[in-house]
Amino acid sequence: MNVYDAERMTDLLAPIGYEAVDIPDDADLVILNTCHIREKAAEKVYSDLGRLRQMKAVRADGGEPMVLAVAGCVAQAEGEEILRRAPFVDMVFGPQAYHRLPEMVARVHREKGAVLDTEFPARSKFDYLPKPEAQGRFSAFLTVQEGCDKFCTFCVVPYTRGAETSRPVADVIADAGNLAAGGVREITLLGQNVNAYHGQARGFGTKTLGKLIAALADIDGLDRIRYTTSYPAEIDSDLINAHRDIEQLMPYLHLPVQSGSDRILHAMNRRHGASDYKRLVERLRRARPDLALSSDFIVGFPGESDADFKATMDLVDAVEFVGAYSFKYSPRPGTPAAALLGQVPDDVKSERLQALQEKLNAGQAAFNQGAVGKKMSVLLDGAGRHSGQLIGRSPYMQAVHVQAPEDHLGKIVELEIEAAHPNSLAGTLLDALPEHENLGASAEAMA
Ligand code: 5AD
Ligand code: SF4
Repeated sequence: MNVYDAERMTDLLAPIGYEAVDIPDDADLVILNTCHIREKAAEKVYSDLGRLRQMKAVRADGGEPMVLAVAGCVAQAEGEEILRRAPFVDMVFGPQAYHRLPEMVARVHREKGAVLDTEFPARSKFDYLPKPEAQGRFSAFLTVQEGCDKFCTFCVVPYTRGAETSRPVADVIADAGNLAAGGVREITLLGQNVNAYHGQARGFGTKTLGKLIAALADIDGLDRIRYTTSYPAEIDSDLINAHRDIEQLMPYLHLPVQSGSDRILHAMNRRHGASDYKRLVERLRRARPDLALSSDFIVGFPGESDADFKATMDLVDAVEFVGAYSFKYSPRPGTPAAALLGQVPDDVKSERLQALQEKLNAGQAAFNQGAVGKKMSVLLDGAGRHSGQLIGRSPYMQAVHVQAPEDHLGKIVELEIEAAHPNSLAGTLLDALPEHENLGASAEAMA
């Protein structure tokens, strides 16, 4: 979501004359879009600010000011504290305030002193944002939901991103239509808890995520739909049925479980136990047998014993994930778990993380290896590292390299997978699919 938010900030600044540059040294405006989820990410902001302070001073000596901004969840959580620790910062604003960026830039130039904006405005920022454009992309993010009311006891998101809100169905469809008309073929719907999506549909009450996806599947040219991030206890039958019925909905799901121990899941306030999770996976796989799953894990949550950790390892064996993010528990200020007794020593967390990651990596390698010799449709959406090479994504989110002419960019092609590496696949081009054989509404219309 931070990538998406940064893109939107770029869109907002374009009309007042800003364009993105690759390095900060000669930028008139530098925005650090920050993450507060773990301590490491949050602390990185201050080390980056130290470097930027020097760049700002060099530019000031040359008579060219540099405006320095801190955006995102660290800004939301630490507001004043940032200005105290780094008084050379000119702007601090949270994730719900960035639509006011042009106004804030003007204020910084006009007034003395820093601008601080960490309000949750009554009207959604989306009402003020310009329509997203394809800008040459074939795959794009689209925020449909923000905020979280689940209050997992380890997590800062409900405090930094605020309460769950959903964008109206018509707005999402309009944005997706605009992106598709500009050449985007794959959209990933975003939300901190995207399963909480309940968007107003004019005259129809609200629509669930599953129903929203069904509506998006009617958009011409939109051949692939994904969504993230999911909260298992809120996956409903509409969504499961969407996996069964909607061809454009890709067979890959990021479904964070966090732990395999019921005791720990309860202490995390997760609202699902290990067997609920496994049952949900079974239902999803019945709906879409080739569904590939990835997950998030936290090791070393307060009170986690060897037996609890073993339950996590057992769950990984049972579910067979194809990829995962795993983290050492990081106590976050203001969250209930940070105050719990039984904090786990760092060396134990490191040991557990290593064992878990070995298992998860083996699962990913086996999944990639299993693709060798198979045919896969791949959306080619970028240049590869070597000349004549393009890179794309399989339906299961694997990165795939292929030798292919440049005019294949933006096409969904059939590949035969020839080799598997730990983080990617290599394929050879079978025939490029004629446009009408690509998945999607247009294909159905012709059938
Ligand atoms: N410590 C470690 N990992 C965390 N996550 C969220 N909060 C914490 C924390 N305090 C992880 C969870 C979540 C992912 C985005 O980050 O696994 O799913
Ligand atoms: Fe954080 Fe996700 Fe739990 Fe919400 S559901 S509190 S975002 S971990």
